[in-house]
Amino acid sequence: MNYNSAINFASKILKKNLIKTASIDSEIILSKTVNLTREQILLNLNKKLSFKELKYFKKLINRRKKKEPIAYILEKKEFWKQSFQINSNVLIPRPDTEILVEEVLKCLPLSSSKSILEIGTGSGCIVLSVLSERKNCYAKALDISKKALKVAECNAKIQHLRNRIQFIYSGIDKFCIGKYDIIISNPPYIKSASIKNLDEDVRLYEPRIALDGGYDGYSLIREVIKKSSYLLKNGGKLFLEIGFEQINEVKKLLKDNHFYVNKIAKDLRKINRCIISTKI
Ligand SMILES: C[S@@+](CC[C@H](N)C(=O)[O-])C[C@H]1O[C@@H](n2cnc3c(N)ncnc32)[C@H](O)[C@@H]1O
Repeated sequence: MNYNSAINFASKILKKNLIKTASIDSEIILSKTVNLTREQILLNLNKKLSFKELKYFKKLINRRKKKEPIAYILEKKEFWKQSFQINSNVLIPRPDTEILVEEVLKCLPLSSSKSILEIGTGSGCIVLSVLSERKNCYAKALDISKKALKVAECNAKIQHLRNRIQFIYSGIDKFCIGKYDIIISNPPYIKSASIKNLDEDVRLYEPRIALDGGYDGYSLIREVIKKSSYLLKNGGKLFLEIGFEQINEVKKLLKDNHFYVNKIAKDLRKINRCIISTKI
């Protein structure tokens, strides 16, 4: 089978299984299979796949057919200015989360040397993106998932940031070391009962621990705010990603925990996504 027939063959299978991005996914998966760029594939449509390549290609298409996200199949996802290694132990970095990085950078002059804590680092995409832009800052990143921390550590090594970050295996409830200038968190914030309504690719493949915010969606948000009021230096800033309908409750929680709300940043769809506050 040549590249052209392989793409057509796979697109048909994916379309039949209601994958909306069937043809582009087929091209991307072929590109992973034969280790060529998509442009190189399109220039070599008559080239034949070897028996081994075809077998591997069919295996990956079969995974996509079952709605596994393309990022898990490729084992990488672009975020900010880097490609992050990922696997099914971490949430797939979302473009909307780049707002959080942008807002942190706005508060950090180029030469600043601040201490940063990230709560729930997952792939490490947020904190590593900040460190890569601010060469004098250093960070601690914690996660309750040991497997997620392994992924984050791998990304730190690849991006040559390992000497400016410490990874800590802990739940936020048990963590009480140090005082920080900045705390960043994109905690799980979906109501437990709403998980069943998520798209299949999220619900079946992304780690539940990265999504489930407890019965009302605020369990981790509450914990992060409470703990941050203790872990932040006076005047330190908390950058929190939240669900779009959570803004008023989160504002109240922040005020109750002695934070001044500085700003609410909207995501690419103009939805409230990130809340920035100062410990007073
Ligand atoms: C929504 S994901 C965010 C991952 C990453 N920061 C991102 O934005 O792509 C939330 C992360 O918090 C971690 N987590 C969940 N409960 C936690 C807890 N009690 N303490 C610390 N981390 C927790 C999960 O393992 C997951 O990696």
